[in-house]
Amino acid sequence: MTSRTIPVSPFVLVVFGATGDLARRKLLPAMFHRDIAGQLPEAANIIGVSRGALEHDFTAQARQAILDHVPKAEVTEPALDSFLKRVSYVQAEADSDKGWAQLAERLAAYPDRIHVFYLATAPTLFGAICERLGRFGLAGENARVVVEKPIGKDLASARAVNEAVGKVFPEERVYRIDHYLGKEAVQNLLALRFANALFEPLWNAAHIDHVQITVAESLGVEGRADYYDNAGALRDMVQNHILQLLCLVAMEPPAKLDADAVRDEKLKVLRSLTPLNTDALCALNTVRGQYRAGASAGGAVSGYLEDLGADESSTETFVALKAEIGNWRWAGVPFYLRTGKRLPTRVSEIVITFRPIPHSVFDRAAGTIEPNRLVIRLQPDEGVRLFVMSKDPGPGGMRLRLVPLDMSFAAAFRVRNPDAYERLVLDVVRGNQTLFMRRDEVEAAWNWIDPILQVWATTSEPPKSYTAGTWGPSAAIALIERDGRTWVETVA
Ligand code: BG6
Repeated sequence: MTSRTIPVSPFVLVVFGATGDLARRKLLPAMFHRDIAGQLPEAANIIGVSRGALEHDFTAQARQAILDHVPKAEVTEPALDSFLKRVSYVQAEADSDKGWAQLAERLAAYPDRIHVFYLATAPTLFGAICERLGRFGLAGENARVVVEKPIGKDLASARAVNEAVGKVFPEERVYRIDHYLGKEAVQNLLALRFANALFEPLWNAAHIDHVQITVAESLGVEGRADYYDNAGALRDMVQNHILQLLCLVAMEPPAKLDADAVRDEKLKVLRSLTPLNTDALCALNTVRGQYRAGASAGGAVSGYLEDLGADESSTETFVALKAEIGNWRWAGVPFYLRTGKRLPTRVSEIVITFRPIPHSVFDRAAGTIEPNRLVIRLQPDEGVRLFVMSKDPGPGGMRLRLVPLDMSFAAAFRVRNPDAYERLVLDVVRGNQTLFMRRDEVEAAWNWIDPILQVWATTSEPPKSYTAGTWGPSAAIALIERDGRTWVETVA
């Protein structure tokens, strides 16, 4: 069985930063997949832009990107050749006018298509690229711009980026990507909540005890130590991906699934987050950690400082937070968030723990009655598990056990799970902004993150060290156990 595809209109995808990691690992493979799925119209092509003189080599690079990042079984020579016919290259500089006239000329050949400008470059270049797109007449009605994270490194710099982009493109043609929103299981959260009558009546403080969101990675900072050291886990993962997940869990049902209705609701959640803006609040509700040498996947791995090649750094590679949403639905329901590099495994999960039953009719021999739990597994093995108490099979007495009602997407649907970028890039062509962040959302998220960063910047206490391959510093366990709760063990 293949997944249903909805054809898109003719388009040109212009990728700035075309020789970079994102283009190679994600964008070209995503377009290839959509091509072999038959979703790209004949009139669809990709123009790579970067500063190097690569006219011919770029196609070879694109070929290599597909071979490196698409499973072999999915690549045939005819499909690859046909895809590469769509690919061309323009040499241009983001911060000078060099090459821009050629780019404009190339695009002039496609006046009736949608022009998608994907800025897969350093964010410091977003303003300069947009300014030139405007000046060279490329930002007309048929043009859309896609910007990647990080959008700024705090509220002020995020505003400056948004301002620079907004001078050239109106908000309805700006697509701020958060690839977590393109993940199948994340979108399924919307289906789960709003296409089922079962959960929504229970989706509030009266019935939910607390929520946990874990995004764990087993990798370290790999080749990105320079970027990462200026970012850290809070900026890299919490400000965007994890807060977006929190919004989808916590938002009110939108009146319909259109871009502004959804984003209005997410914005209200972000604005209702209780600020963590004092030393005392941060000390109580945040934990930051940094990995030291340890073991991962059965082998020894180095610590963060060695990966960075530095003697010291106060950048956090792990963060755990207790967040609260000050509104009627969620008052008193903690959201425990944690993410980190070099944790025992790569797993992302949202765990909703319901309140205990009010009274037990069973005697003590039946065992402890544990609260119901809904676990939404984002990766790997996307799926949903609802843990319910049931009777242990067999004669002799009533013994109870928490067991999962298991829905694995792989088993239920038997289709290949598309990468987030496949969905998101085509959503840009479709003009659907639902899964993209609006300017006010990004700024509201920074508005909550900024005070934490400020408190951390002024404290003399360094991040707590944790051994690579463990679940972060012990303070992260204390953060939740202090409330009489515990992190739900996530197993890949
Ligand atoms: C990126 C972060 O946004 O998300 C990376 O910059 C992180 O540090 C990555 O590794 C995780 O994405 P995924 O899809 O692999 O969970």
